Amino acid sequence: MTIGLMAALKILVIPGSLRAGSLNAKLAAAAVDELVRADVDVIRISLGDYPLPIYDGDLESGSGVPKHAVNLKRMIQAHHGVLIVTPEYNASLPPLVKNAIDWVSRVQDNHETRGQVFRERPFAIAAASGGKLGGARCLQALRLVLSACRATVIPNQLALSFANDAYDDMDRLQHPGDIDALQAMVRQLIDVAQQMK
Ligand SMILES: Cc1cc2nc3c(=O)[nH]c(=O)nc-3n(C[C@H](O)[C@H](O)[C@H](O)COP(=O)(O)O)c2cc1C
Repeated sequence: MTIGLMAALKILVIPGSLRAGSLNAKLAAAAVDELVRADVDVIRISLGDYPLPIYDGDLESGSGVPKHAVNLKRMIQAHHGVLIVTPEYNASLPPLVKNAIDWVSRVQDNHETRGQVFRERPFAIAAASGGKLGGARCLQALRLVLSACRATVIPNQLALSFANDAYDDMDRLQHPGDIDALQAMVRQLIDVAQQMK
């Protein structure tokens, strides 16, 4: 019997903020480090590379789903799991994230049902905020949105509170509790992604 090489697990990390110095981009980078340490193939994208108009049904029926939405969907499809790290805006998701999800949910490639990409891989969700709730209300909203797309959203999540004080000079998480929560989430994402692979 020969033992084949196990194909590496591929995880996509999507920050929900384009802002220079974003607290969420820093958390996304910390998650990338954890995933790399776990021998995962990880890619972090910027939604700035997938500019999309606000969803409009007339636009979709007139010219179809924009190319960037199709590309983003295919990027997600090329990975075994996804981590979204997003700010909380007024207790919910930023339009950047919601609009990307809305457009991706409209993509239907050949031999697929619409939104299939959400159902075939696990999603992990995390947020960073300067406040004490750490974006927990956004995570509640995001979990609902992804669940409506019938995604598997893993139970472990990370709401990083007081995020202005959470990183050291190298932008690494500096509080053991935050590191533990990040590691627990990453481990669970890897486990579920392996199971669904
Ligand atoms: C429109 C808007 C609404 C916001 N609402 C919330 C909120 O409900 N809860 C919260 O913790 N922070 C809120 N914030 C503050 C953000 O958490 C903060 O700006 C954070 O740094 C944004 O994430 P980023 O650093 O990754 O860009 C809000 C910011 C903006 C611009």
